[in-house]
Amino acid sequence: MSSNNVPDYSNSRIRSAVQPNASTPSLREPVSIAVVGSGYVGLVAAVCFAEMGHDVICVDNDESKVKALQGGDTLIHETYLPELLNRHGNRRVRFMTDLAEATRECKAIFIAVGTPQSETGDADLSYVEAVASEIARSLTTYKVIVEKSTVPVYTNEWIRRVIERNGVARELFDVVSNPEFLREGTAVADFLHPDRIVVGSDTPRAAAVLAEIYAPLTSGAYYESPNAISGVCSVETPPPLLNTSTKSSEIIKHASNAFLALKISFINAVANLCEATDANVEQVARGMGLDRRIGTRFLRPGIGYGGSCFPKDVAAFRSVAEQLGTDFSLLTEVEKINATQKKRFLGKVRSALWTLRGKKLAVLGLAFKGETDDIRESPAIELVQMLLGEGCTIRAYDPAAISRTQQILPASAGLAYAEDSYAAAADADALLILTDWKEFSELDLHRLNKTLRYPIIIDGRNLYDPHVMQQHGFTYLSVGRPAAYPVRDAVTNAAVTVGS
Ligand code: UDX
Repeated sequence: MSSNNVPDYSNSRIRSAVQPNASTPSLREPVSIAVVGSGYVGLVAAVCFAEMGHDVICVDNDESKVKALQGGDTLIHETYLPELLNRHGNRRVRFMTDLAEATRECKAIFIAVGTPQSETGDADLSYVEAVASEIARSLTTYKVIVEKSTVPVYTNEWIRRVIERNGVARELFDVVSNPEFLREGTAVADFLHPDRIVVGSDTPRAAAVLAEIYAPLTSGAYYESPNAISGVCSVETPPPLLNTSTKSSEIIKHASNAFLALKISFINAVANLCEATDANVEQVARGMGLDRRIGTRFLRPGIGYGGSCFPKDVAAFRSVAEQLGTDFSLLTEVEKINATQKKRFLGKVRSALWTLRGKKLAVLGLAFKGETDDIRESPAIELVQMLLGEGCTIRAYDPAAISRTQQILPASAGLAYAEDSYAAAADADALLILTDWKEFSELDLHRLNKTLRYPIIIDGRNLYDPHVMQQHGFTYLSVGRPAAYPVRDAVTNAAVTVGS
């Protein structure tokens, strides 16, 4: 019953089942690597560097996290991470709190700590600065310090200054920018099968260390190993490594995320135009995307982008431009369209149900996108809050994000959590789809129709074909596509459904 509108996670399919204790062979001389920070980027990088054959120490100052990781708990919901942690944990990748020890032991130190958004929209770089100072205090032999976190241009230079201020001689270190482009949900496969590896370095010596680290991927050797995680790269088509200046590399990361956010806001604006004209945004996106200069990806309209990166990075990039006296108000428009998209969806719910106070709604999806438990800047959560504010009663279900959501939105008189989609739908006045989980695109529509009080679905992710929904007797509203209503029998006025 699913349409083909679900994001393509196929590149993360595994070629051979991951065997828990099968160690991938050391593909070359391993490099000793420290990764500071065990969030999405840090943890995935640490485990994947181990998978590539390197000796890795992952450092985090949160003792409980380190203990959990030592015990094999990945702490985040990410495909292949449990298997790879099981494969390499406490062997090729060790977890500790001691950054001084890691600095002494390792040749390259990747900084992958958080760069949260400050009140002004800038990235807050205080964690990066603290780590740089701490590294400096234990630095006695040559090290390459690598920015992996998303940071604004000039951060590289600041890290260098901080280390020098701590009395470290310039020839004892280099600072390199090596941005990470992984997506949550497909992080491991994205890391091991990147479209490109960007290395921003101002010295050949540091660039050579990074080339050595990524050699298992760029040479294609990793993809030949029998237990390799499969994906788009292969021995014949290994990923390219692009060498740039440090500043270009820093800008590449921000510009890439801002451009992808722009692409999403663009198609959302086009979707709104389609709604105003009864055109179909899916056909429009396909027609645009087939032009190879545009490309089909990231043209899925919906309720706006969210997550820990796009909102923060668009704001930070705009702020950097402002500080440097460059007009980038285009990004303000990107943000404006994104915010409007949620309000428009609320308007759609209202248009289907008339008044909202007291309406019982089933909500499918809380995570900011499918296949992750991350709810940071989730448009789904924002919509739940808006609907609760309108006096609706909500029963919500998400395959992985309920416990995180409960921490900020505990169950209350207005909000309950269900154990599956059908329990959420029981006796509801309408069902809203807010996250593009694959399982939401494979619902038993017949059962769903019988479970809901009224067969009304408002789909913020375009997971179904409107025509199919009509055949199943639903009133179906989606984004940028004509609404579908059940066909009624001329005599009985009953909805005519498939098989009825
Ligand atoms: C993003 C970048 O893709 C990645 O390169 C970077 O390293 C981190 O930020 P991520 O935040 O994991 O990754 O999610 P992504 O898959 O890019 O989606 C971001 C948001 O955009 C989600 O809310 C998603 O639902 C939305 N989106 C994405 C759309 O609305 N339409 C699309 O076509 C694609």
